[in-house]
Amino acid sequence: MTASAAQPSPRRFSPGGPLAGRIRVPGDKSISHRSLMLGALALGETRVSGLLEGEDVLSTAAAMRAMGADVEQLPPSALGGEWRVHGVGVGALLQPQGALDMGNSGTSTRLLMGLVATHPITATFVGDASLSGRPMGRVIAPLSQMGAAFHATPGAKGSQTLPLRVEGAELPVPISYRLPVASAQVKSAVLLAGLNTRGLTEVIEPVPTRDHSERMLRGFGADLNVEVQADGTRIIRLMGEAELKPQRIIVPGDPSSAAFFIVAALLVPGSDLVIENVGLNPTRAGLITVLRAMGGSIEELDPREVGGEPVADLRVRHSALTGIEVDPAIAPAMIDEFPVLFVAAALAKGTTVTRGLEELRVKESDRITVMATALTAAGARVTETADGLTIAGTDGEPLRGTADGPIKTHLDHRIAMAMAVAGLASRAGVEVDDTRPIATSFPTFEALLATASGA
Ligand code: S3P
Repeated sequence: MTASAAQPSPRRFSPGGPLAGRIRVPGDKSISHRSLMLGALALGETRVSGLLEGEDVLSTAAAMRAMGADVEQLPPSALGGEWRVHGVGVGALLQPQGALDMGNSGTSTRLLMGLVATHPITATFVGDASLSGRPMGRVIAPLSQMGAAFHATPGAKGSQTLPLRVEGAELPVPISYRLPVASAQVKSAVLLAGLNTRGLTEVIEPVPTRDHSERMLRGFGADLNVEVQADGTRIIRLMGEAELKPQRIIVPGDPSSAAFFIVAALLVPGSDLVIENVGLNPTRAGLITVLRAMGGSIEELDPREVGGEPVADLRVRHSALTGIEVDPAIAPAMIDEFPVLFVAAALAKGTTVTRGLEELRVKESDRITVMATALTAAGARVTETADGLTIAGTDGEPLRGTADGPIKTHLDHRIAMAMAVAGLASRAGVEVDDTRPIATSFPTFEALLATASGA
């Protein structure tokens, strides 16, 4: 974590007032990363408004600079972070001088491994303790087929982890790759590698994952098309070598950040909150579907399009929630929202069952075990299974809160924010061991919480 203080920053999140008024969450993290990467590959000036200025995205900005792009932060506008990028052109990334420090960011790491893999350069990737435990074999496998060479650090259970060195291919080979895991990061790594690979690169996606890369690559002028088969399988075809044209990008608000305020407003009695400018790409909006099925009142106001993505203002009112069985098929469309969904389930009436969530074990932390431990410590009734959690809710009664020391967040921003929301819906409050990781994706979280609820 680049900009953080050296010491952990614990905090107790205590119940405050109802969440009310209008707030605006920062720009989408996935779209922000991609706008800097593609801007850095387009010849000429790309302008980005509403960029998320969180540590993860700043890691991407630093890496693109280290590989030759001119990436400049301008004074913020009403839309948020204002940035200018002068790209080098596909094929022209420069050899970085030092190691690329990815901080906590899996997206920066995996997508940039794809870019480096088909440029004739060598790069070393390093990261914090959380990122250094995460599996990189899932991108090493297809990128090796394209001709890149990798030297990774052996990790737990035979995994390949950071620090790792990538030697990009001189003459990359296009591949057709069927995704063995539902991962937008793996899909995007292969597509980005395909940009500087002559011929047709193909990714076959049996289960749809977030499609920001496809949308933005097209926006930058890449020759990319998507075929959707009768069974829902998507085949994405990209023709390299691509020439990208600089763009004007407006980044919508991040639904994964809005998620914490959506759940907080549903849980805290008397709440009536409007969250403006929330991205509602269907590959990201699973949490809203599930919360509505649980009885949550979430209204879409002024639906519109921003930067090629559907957006609306969300009006969220306190609601009595009922537990449900969550269909595993919806998981990719809400993969980052499970920690906060578990909090909502802990206050619902009846039992919520989640399954098919193995991927949560390889996020910034093992989000199944870490959330089971955290919610239990806060007084919830939680059973952990191999691939999910079963949660017996309180029927709206606040949780007890923590008494025996702080929740361990394991350098995971979303655990910290989910448990902050649990604190608002508790009697005694919930103490988390470290709020610093929140800055990776949502640096204004605590300030916005104070604005919306006085907490
Ligand atoms: C992301 C994809 C998801 C998500 C991550 C961002 C992306 O990861 O969890 O926060 O921007 O492509 P996976 O592709 O590993 O599921």
